[in-house]
Amino acid sequence: MCGIVGYAGSVGNAKDIIIDGLKRLEYRGYDSSGVALICNGKLEVRKRVGRIANLEELIKGETFDSKVGIGHTRWATHGAPSDANSHPHTSPDGSIAVVHNGIIENYVELKEWLIKEHGITFRSEVDTEVIVHLISVFFEGNLEDAVFKAIAMLRGAFSIGVVCKNDPDKVIGFRRNAPMIAGIGKGCNFIASDIPAILKHVREIYLIENNEMVVITKDDIKIYDMDRNEMHRDIFHVTWDAESAEKGGYEHFMLKEIHEQPKGLYDTLHRRLDENDMIKLDGINLTKEHLENFNKIYIVACGTAYHAGLVGKFTIEKMAHIPVEVEVASEFRYRDPFVDDKTLFIAVSQSGETSDTLEALREAKRKGARVLSVVNVVGSSVARESDDVFYTWAGPEIAVASTKAYTTQLMSMYIIALYMGITKGTIDKAYYEEFIKDLKAIPEKAKAALATEPSLQVFARELYKNEHVFFIGRGPDAGVSYEGSLKLKEISYINSFAIAAGELKHGTIALIEKDTVVVALATQDKLYEKMLSNIQEVKARGAYVIGLAKEGNDKIEKQADKVIYIPECRDELTPLLSVIPLQILAYYIAKERGCDIDKPKNLAKSVTVE
Ligand code: AGP
Ligand code: GLU
Repeated sequence: MCGIVGYAGSVGNAKDIIIDGLKRLEYRGYDSSGVALICNGKLEVRKRVGRIANLEELIKGETFDSKVGIGHTRWATHGAPSDANSHPHTSPDGSIAVVHNGIIENYVELKEWLIKEHGITFRSEVDTEVIVHLISVFFEGNLEDAVFKAIAMLRGAFSIGVVCKNDPDKVIGFRRNAPMIAGIGKGCNFIASDIPAILKHVREIYLIENNEMVVITKDDIKIYDMDRNEMHRDIFHVTWDAESAEKGGYEHFMLKEIHEQPKGLYDTLHRRLDENDMIKLDGINLTKEHLENFNKIYIVACGTAYHAGLVGKFTIEKMAHIPVEVEVASEFRYRDPFVDDKTLFIAVSQSGETSDTLEALREAKRKGARVLSVVNVVGSSVARESDDVFYTWAGPEIAVASTKAYTTQLMSMYIIALYMGITKGTIDKAYYEEFIKDLKAIPEKAKAALATEPSLQVFARELYKNEHVFFIGRGPDAGVSYEGSLKLKEISYINSFAIAAGELKHGTIALIEKDTVVVALATQDKLYEKMLSNIQEVKARGAYVIGLAKEGNDKIEKQADKVIYIPECRDELTPLLSVIPLQILAYYIAKERGCDIDKPKNLAKSVTVE
């Protein structure tokens, strides 16, 4: 989700203060912006797709004499970036405006209800619009009442900001599982989704908790729970400087995004489960007929996204009973691949703008394939040119080294595989329910995997001077080895190398000598003994081995020099957890080497050229 700023004050100009606050959130990545200002009893709304400079161009020359308003930078989840889909969204009579971060999971049924029961005409594709129409339906002069009634009907994770020209001195904020704070100013007060937006004006804030409403006026801040009890809140004194505030207190975006993975995994999964834990995929029209027609699946991508495909292959093949081939896009697009109308082409891309992936997708379409894309950026080129789109909802990924996009891509693969299997009938309900139960446990287990950070920091201090590191694994662990190796090489510039463990003896083992560092992934129960043998092989040649295994599998301690444990889970799901220590290890090794972690040399966040 993206950025919210709200202001109520007697000093300064609301428009200037809000737009300046939005600019301080630009680092987060967004696709559009807008403001709603109470001016002389009127509600003025201006919004525009693209950079905030486009919004400023739009309102250039207009003077808004305003002391109350809200602003938003949008990271689209529902509806491609456009002027109409930008926030704020307004009530039919233009008296109420809403900005929103997050997702309203039940917006489809609410939209149908509003159209049917209240004759509402929707003017955008965005889930947010249901919020402002609900508030408008319930508004009878008191904005708090109307907002509480509307909130009671919403499902999902969201934070919102609301203004109303008929209750003109206040800004209302509400938080449910998406960040919101209130800033305590002098002669003015703020709401914001992020500290950086208001750090220029305040150092004292209230942290708004889940399911709480905050009401600000120029002189007052009130916080209420869902029962409308006024809540007392201690003042939080912000000591961060502006730069560290942008990273939420983390030193780098990469570390912040590593720690955002439990939430990304939760959001990507839970918003696609109905109340009976059945998968519901809006934006995907793959019917049983479609699925039964496919005799081949290609998963095509680049870099980290390709590594997600290497893992996804195992589960999709097993559940959908369709052969899956995983290929780098730069190879696929030039080899005149065999593709026809019985082919499903799955494009995986965080940015949705990677040239090789986009061109490979076009090649597959030209040859008759149906295209499903797994993408993080709504409305991106890959998404727009696909027949079906599965959004990963990881939120903006700023660091060049992809982390939360990768794990949410994996989560997406599991959901797609389950959907295919249960739709085709190639998995039964008992298997489905067991797998879904295990998947739902993953976000908490990912949090536990993050707890390895302190010991990995120590490992990094021992390892960072090595110029060669090998990653080995079998089955899904081989795919994760490639990803662990890429993380290390792209941010620490260490020459790391990944190989399927069984392949070592066919040449590569010649490189193993005394103190060569080998990271050995051994999470697969049925391949555990094989991996212990591979560890013995490299140890016999002097290697220093860091093993990675599931908690409880401590036999590896007899072979490896160090062992990293991940929480126990079924074999198929270990990649969601095993990659986390590898990301953290790469991060701290790069940190010890003094590398520019968020912007590694020679690399771009999205490779939009060949
Ligand atoms: C991953 O850490 C790299 N930044 C890079 O390999 C990236 O995964 C690749 O360029 C693909 O990008 P995409 O997912 O945006 O298509
Ligand atoms: N779901 C809303 C939209 O797609 C809000 C997205 C955001 O958090 O910016 O516009």
